[in-house]
Amino acid sequence: MTVNLEQNRISIHVTDVAGTTREIAGDIGTSLMEIIKVAGIDDIPAFCGGVCSCASCHVVIAPDFAGLLPAMSEDEADLLDGSAHRAEGSRLSCQVKASSELDGLCLTIAPQE
Ligand code: FES
Repeated sequence: MTVNLEQNRISIHVTDVAGTTREIAGDIGTSLMEIIKVAGIDDIPAFCGGVCSCASCHVVIAPDFAGLLPAMSEDEADLLDGSAHRAEGSRLSCQVKASSELDGLCLTIAPQE
């Protein structure tokens, strides 16, 4: 997919829990969780609606983009610490907003606990 920053959208590559990868687009300024849900990928329940209190939006972001991500809050780190699936690159997708720097981002949805 071509980057279309004029329309304030980026593309991301999402691998679901079954291992299928899809390229989807979303609006800059919205969270990765929202982009994934709007695209119809239902592996992220997002029980808390994106307020960083459930960890059901856990994703693992590819190392190439690690340096471009916003800093992790203490609350986010605490929630991820409780996950059996925490890995290098783990983030809560509701806490990462799409930005132009993240165009082409690759992530994998972590299994639910
Ligand atoms: S949706 Fe609940 S922590 Fe992200």
